[in-house]
Amino acid sequence: MPANKDGDGGWKGFLWNSEKKEFLGRTGGSWLKIFIFYVIFYGCLAGIFIGTIQAMMLTLSNYKPTYQDRVAPPGLSHTPRSEKAEISFSKQDDNSFDPYIRNLRELLEPYKDEKQTDIQKFEDCGATPEGYRNRGELESDIGIRKACRFSRTLLRSCSGTDDKSFGFKDGKPCLIVKLNRIVNFRPRPPASNASLPAAAQGYLQPNLIPIYCTNKREEDAGKIGEIKYYGLGNGFPLQYYPYYGKLLHPQYLQPLVAIQFTNVTLNEELRIECKVYGENIDYSEKDRYQGRFDLKLLIKS
Ligand SMILES: *[C@@H]1O[C@H](CO)[C@@H](O)[C@H](O)[C@H]1NC(C)=O
Ligand SMILES: *[C@@H]1O[C@H](CO)[C@@H](O)[C@H](O)[C@H]1NC(C)=O
Repeated sequence: MPANKDGDGGWKGFLWNSEKKEFLGRTGGSWLKIFIFYVIFYGCLAGIFIGTIQAMMLTLSNYKPTYQDRVAPPGLSHTPRSEKAEISFSKQDDNSFDPYIRNLRELLEPYKDEKQTDIQKFEDCGATPEGYRNRGELESDIGIRKACRFSRTLLRSCSGTDDKSFGFKDGKPCLIVKLNRIVNFRPRPPASNASLPAAAQGYLQPNLIPIYCTNKREEDAGKIGEIKYYGLGNGFPLQYYPYYGKLLHPQYLQPLVAIQFTNVTLNEELRIECKVYGENIDYSEKDRYQGRFDLKLLIKS
């Protein structure tokens, strides 16, 4: 602090020394040089930062995920989905299941036949499970790929066409299930009956990922009643795979399976678990939705 020695007006003099025309001990020219130095310095830092990111971006493809070796097997999701994985309603009370029905209608909106008429975008892929439908490499210049049609009428009594309440009014609720999309993933069906629970062995088919639901707890055995499955082959048929991603496959429709609980015991909370089976589908302790889900179902009379 050079101006401090003056004693009187020391601080003022330091702030603005009118004799030497110095502000805070430096002249205007000196301040300007410092300012220019920092502009250049930070400019270079920003340049290096942007350059690095640009170089990284060049190595990424628009279509193909760069790192996919650690992608978890697909999640199994269901609609209606609710907080705490609980579906609880009263047959008598429309309001108690109204939100569920709205969820289901929303999900099925793109599955209406009239939304799949454009032959540039959709094609028929057969009425029974078939093998993978390959549509060229992700990186080829074919561009946008067609999607297989999936009509909601395949879901029969769970299609929302005849029974607008999706069974809820009669205490026979429908759930609609799908496997989450993974770009370029080809689910492989179970190799043999050995990988299926005994009750599901009849569902084994060469081009199908079967789904099977049952009671999660011992004590609910016999209370769940008959479960009906609707869809194309009552599982996830392989001709809907692989998925080419949002850009190349914008119209893609995931195959759906509807599950209808036709005779559940009323007024009891039941725990139900649904699982899909396949060679490259497995389950995780940490992720409750990987390849399976479970939910509580309570139907009040
Ligand atoms: C699997 O088991 C079911 C029922 O037990 C049977 O009908 C079917 O033929 C079996 N399939 C194979 C490939 O063993
Ligand atoms: C419904 O379940 C009950 C037992 O919980 C059984 O007695 C009845 O036969 C079942 N009805 C049908 C149509 O399966």
